[in-house]
Amino acid sequence: MEIDVFTLFPQAFEWFRAQRHVAGALAHGHHLACINYRDHTPLKAGQVDDEPFGGGAGMVLRVDVVEAALRARYGTDPVDLRQQRRVIAMTPTGRVLDDAMVDELAALESLTLLSGRYEGFDQRVLDHFATEEVSIGRYVLAGGEIPAMAVCDAVFRKLPGALGDANSAVEESFSRALDGAPEYPHYTRPAEYRGWQVPEVLLSGHHARIRQWRLEQSASRAQASGHGPRASGREADGGSLP
Ligand code: 6GU
Repeated sequence: MEIDVFTLFPQAFEWFRAQRHVAGALAHGHHLACINYRDHTPLKAGQVDDEPFGGGAGMVLRVDVVEAALRARYGTDPVDLRQQRRVIAMTPTGRVLDDAMVDELAALESLTLLSGRYEGFDQRVLDHFATEEVSIGRYVLAGGEIPAMAVCDAVFRKLPGALGDANSAVEESFSRALDGAPEYPHYTRPAEYRGWQVPEVLLSGHHARIRQWRLEQSASRAQASGHGPRASGREADGGSLP
């Protein structure tokens, strides 16, 4: 998979790129490129934003600047690019990212993310260049870099090569394998700490009982939190999992 992130702060992605699951996915042939709008602006002095028509606070990322950056990368009119690849604009009011959307994005061959700063994008970017808008939750961040990183993080960890144990992305919170429920609790050594005991079943070595206990825990967390099980009524039986 290839993800292209358009941003004014490509250096913000350097730390992210070095994270183990990201580095693992990149070593397996997946790609993450950051394109700086400022490198392609047709305006003088690296200008990328402008005052909003009608007045008001903040600055708006210009449509001509976004077009120039997309053209430089893809060599095509960004209006047509939408027929070839998903172009997601990161906006606080977009569709909220969830595990199902992450699965859908992780199945793509290529993906473009547009991050904005300031008051956001000129509306014509969203209307004519983006295929959709995605948000990471109902609160406002100062820019789209952290949201774009959140999308990349969630997508990359689903890809082959990202995780040490390929199963750890299968049976995790909100996944299909757990019927959309939160994951069960985990414990490690010491088995007793300050009188706090690890549940006895986990020390039993009895795999069928452990599995049963975990599914029960997951289901009762789902009840308590209001997350899943999904409306499909599918049993949380783990399907083909070991
Ligand atoms: Cl995608 N952008 C910004 N600026 N704030 C957000 C967001 C995106 N998602 C949640 N808050």
